[in-house]
Amino acid sequence: MSVCEFRPGLEGIPAAQSSISFVDGQKGLLEYRGIRIEELASKSTFLETAYLLIWGQLPDFEELKAFEHEVRYHRRIKYRIRDMMKSFPESGHPMDALQASAAALGLFYSRRDLHNPVYIRDAVVRLVATIPTMVAAFQLMRKGNDPIRPNDGLDYSANFLYMLSEEEPDPLASRIFDVCLILHAEHTMNASTFSARVTASTLTDPYAVVASAVGTLGGPLHGGANEEVIQMLEEIGCVENVRPYIEGCLERKAKIMGFGHRVYKVKDPRATILQDLAEQLFAKFGHDKYYDIALEMEKVVEEKLANKGIYPNVDFYSGLVYGKMGIPTDLFTPIFAIARVAGWLAHWKEQLAENRIFRPTQVYNGLHEAAYIPIEQR
Ligand code: ACO
Repeated sequence: MSVCEFRPGLEGIPAAQSSISFVDGQKGLLEYRGIRIEELASKSTFLETAYLLIWGQLPDFEELKAFEHEVRYHRRIKYRIRDMMKSFPESGHPMDALQASAAALGLFYSRRDLHNPVYIRDAVVRLVATIPTMVAAFQLMRKGNDPIRPNDGLDYSANFLYMLSEEEPDPLASRIFDVCLILHAEHTMNASTFSARVTASTLTDPYAVVASAVGTLGGPLHGGANEEVIQMLEEIGCVENVRPYIEGCLERKAKIMGFGHRVYKVKDPRATILQDLAEQLFAKFGHDKYYDIALEMEKVVEEKLANKGIYPNVDFYSGLVYGKMGIPTDLFTPIFAIARVAGWLAHWKEQLAENRIFRPTQVYNGLHEAAYIPIEQR
C-alpha cells in the first residue's frame, strides 16, 4: 500500500463506503438514499425519513405505522434516568446532559447482541424515542419543574414541543419543526458521524455510539454553530452594524458563524429550505428583526467571500426558526442531535454490516531516543 500524504482534517479522504446519503457540494445537492432533500422536506415526516435512512428504503403503510407505534410507546424514560438527570447541575449545557443520559441508557440494556435484528430494532426505537424526552426533561428540571410525560395523542414533533412548553403546539410550528428534523437527520461523513462509526467499529453498544456522536456534535465548528449564530446576530444588533462586523472578522481572520462548509461551495440546500420555513413562521407569528440582519449578512458575506465558496450553511437559519418557536438557544444543538440520531444509527448499522475496526496511521514528528531526565534536573 502506498504511503499517502498527511491531510489535516482528513479532507478528501474516504473513511467508509456508504449508501446512506450523498452531497454534491458544487451543485448544492443533498440526497438521502437517493431522494432529494427538497422532496423529503415537502412530502415526508421525520419518522418516515428516519426509517428510510436506517432501513434503506421508504416504509410501506404497515411498516410506517408499526414504526410510529413503537416509537410512540417507548418515549417514556426510566425513573432512574430521570432521577440521575435531576442531579445534574442546572447550569450545565444540555448537550452534556444529553451525552451523559444517552450513555446511561446503555447501563439498562447492557446485553449486546449485535447480530440479532430484534436487538438492533429495539435499540433504534429506544434511542429515536427517548432522546427527545431526555432533552425536554432536562429543560424542565433545570428550571426546577418536574418533567412532563409524553402525550400519546401527539405525533413525534408535536409531542417534543409539548414536553418542552407544557402546551399543545401550533400545527404549523409542529410541521416546521418536523421538517427541521428531516433536514438535520443525516449528512454524509461529518465529524459526529465519523465519531459514531469509529465507536461502532469497536463493536461496543449503540448507546455508546450515540453518546460519542453527541459529544462530537456539540463543538462550535460543528452542530454548536447554530447557538453561536444567534449570539452573533444579537451582538451585531442592527442592519447598519453588519458590514463593519464582517469586515472586523475578516481583518482578525475570525470565522463568521453559520457560513462555510467543508463540502458545499454554494449555498447549503438546507439553508435555503430553512430560510423559507423561517419566513412562514414570521408570516404567522410576526417579523423578527434578526432576520433582517441575517439577510444583510448573507449579502455582505457573498460580496466578500463568494470567491472562496463561503455561503450560509445549515446552522445559519435554523436558530431563527427555533428562536421564533420560543426554544432556548442552548437547546438548538440538542435538537440537532434529536434529528441526527437517525443518521448515526443508519451509519451504525452500515458499519456493523461490513465492519473492520478503525485504526488509521499517523505521521510521527516527535523525538526518538530521548533521554529520561531525573526530576531534580529538569
Ligand atoms: N468565515 C470566514 N472565512 C471562512 C469561513 C467563515 N465562516 N469558513 C471558511 N472560511 C475561509 C477560511 O478562512 C479559509 O480561508 P483561507 O484559505 O484564506 O485561509 C477558507 O475559507 C477555508 O476555510 P477552512 O477553515 O480551511 O475550511 P474547513 O473546511 O476546514 O472548515 C468549517 C469548514 C469548519 C465549517 C468552517 O467553514 C467554519 O469554521 N465555519 C464557521 C462555523 C460553522 O458555521 N460551522 C457549522 C458547519 S455546518 C455543520 O457542522 C452542521
